[in-house]
Amino acid sequence: MKHFLWGTATAAYQIEGGVSEGGRGWSVWDAFCRIPGRVKGMADGDVGCDSFHRFAEDVKMMKLLGVNAYRFSISWPRIQPTGRGEANPAGIAYYDRLIDLLLENGITPFVTLYHWDLPLDLQMAHDGWLNPEIVRDFSRYAKICFDAFGDRVKHWITFNEPWCVARLGHGSGCFPPGRVSDSEPYSAGHHMLLAHAHAARLFREGSGGGVIGIANNCDFREPLTDSPEDREAAQRSLEFFYGWFTDPVVFGDYPRCMRERVGSRLPEFTTSEQALLKGSCDFLGLNHYTTLYASATPPAEQSADGNGGMNADQEVYLSADPAWEQNDMPWNIVPWGFRKLLNWIAARYPGYAVYVTENGCTCAEPDAAAALNDEQRCRFLRDYTAAMQTAIDEDGVDVRGYFCWTLMDNFEWVHGYGKRLGLIRVSPDNLERVPKASFYAYREIIRNSR
Ligand code: NOJ
Repeated sequence: MKHFLWGTATAAYQIEGGVSEGGRGWSVWDAFCRIPGRVKGMADGDVGCDSFHRFAEDVKMMKLLGVNAYRFSISWPRIQPTGRGEANPAGIAYYDRLIDLLLENGITPFVTLYHWDLPLDLQMAHDGWLNPEIVRDFSRYAKICFDAFGDRVKHWITFNEPWCVARLGHGSGCFPPGRVSDSEPYSAGHHMLLAHAHAARLFREGSGGGVIGIANNCDFREPLTDSPEDREAAQRSLEFFYGWFTDPVVFGDYPRCMRERVGSRLPEFTTSEQALLKGSCDFLGLNHYTTLYASATPPAEQSADGNGGMNADQEVYLSADPAWEQNDMPWNIVPWGFRKLLNWIAARYPGYAVYVTENGCTCAEPDAAAALNDEQRCRFLRDYTAAMQTAIDEDGVDVRGYFCWTLMDNFEWVHGYGKRLGLIRVSPDNLERVPKASFYAYREIIRNSR
């Protein structure tokens, strides 16, 4: 595991704060947080972890943690306040300082261009991801970043979990822009894929070198029974989840089962778009958190916590084993599902290196003492990294890195600050950073693997 990247991950809106500083424009999340009823406790990212000012402290903590990589995202509205036009020098300067400091400390920057904070103007005046023009806007933004940071950043991710932007932003409406539709998720997703492909082309045409990929999220789906119907249901569910945004960047088109089931609501790629998409990733990112059973007919027992339910286009029923341990999200803790998913990815996309771009555990931490003694997260990290190790050693899956989500407690989107995933506790009173037990557990995991 000599060149393996062991890292942690964060995202700009979740940690930076400083939302009105350095010429930053507003993002869709700044606006969404101000709509009553959208985010728990009307929380927002105005202060976050204040990493806009305290990034040096964050890097110091990473050094202590012993990671050799850090996945963070660039805030588009810090670079282009309205999403179009000239680059904002103060925004560039902030990331310049962060990148330089990481490199001085031997930490490889792994940069995400889009982690959900779309410049608000692009949404309000131009319809955001529903407008094909955004492909050009995103490419220009990406090019600014490649030109500014590409001399030092060699690992790039275009999109973080486009599935969430499509499904949650345009399907169920619980994320910005809060739209509810059964066709818009597919159009928004289509434009994100094209934006990815154009950005990847620009990246490769530049002379900076390095690799580019996409961070797609996927839970594992285990067939509820051995019947062919349930096996097909699990396969379909994975194709609608990971395949939606991975098949196009590997093969140049959506999974066949999506074409058949979504019909005319799923846009078509032209031949030249297919060619541009195909092979547009040097690696595949995976954000993984949990596992559910999948079946073609309703299971006898639906889980009581709302994990169950049907997915209209897929015709798949999801359920959990009541014996599974759950975390505070609540998500099921099933390390073998992680191993199986890594194998599923390796089998479907042979030849691709995989980076686990996110994996982590939400723990109930009612007070500081409970937070610092996060035994469940320690176990989670040991068991999930062991499952990954087995996938690498015994199954031969080409995993090149693992990023624990997340470095420190931060703004967990619609949950506000109530759901905690950090290795470091951030005191709500003074934002002081204090390592939890899991910080030391993860440090041990990293040390033992070298
Ligand atoms: C996925 C997202 O990329 C990240 O922003 C979020 O905090 C984690 N999952 C945990 O929900």
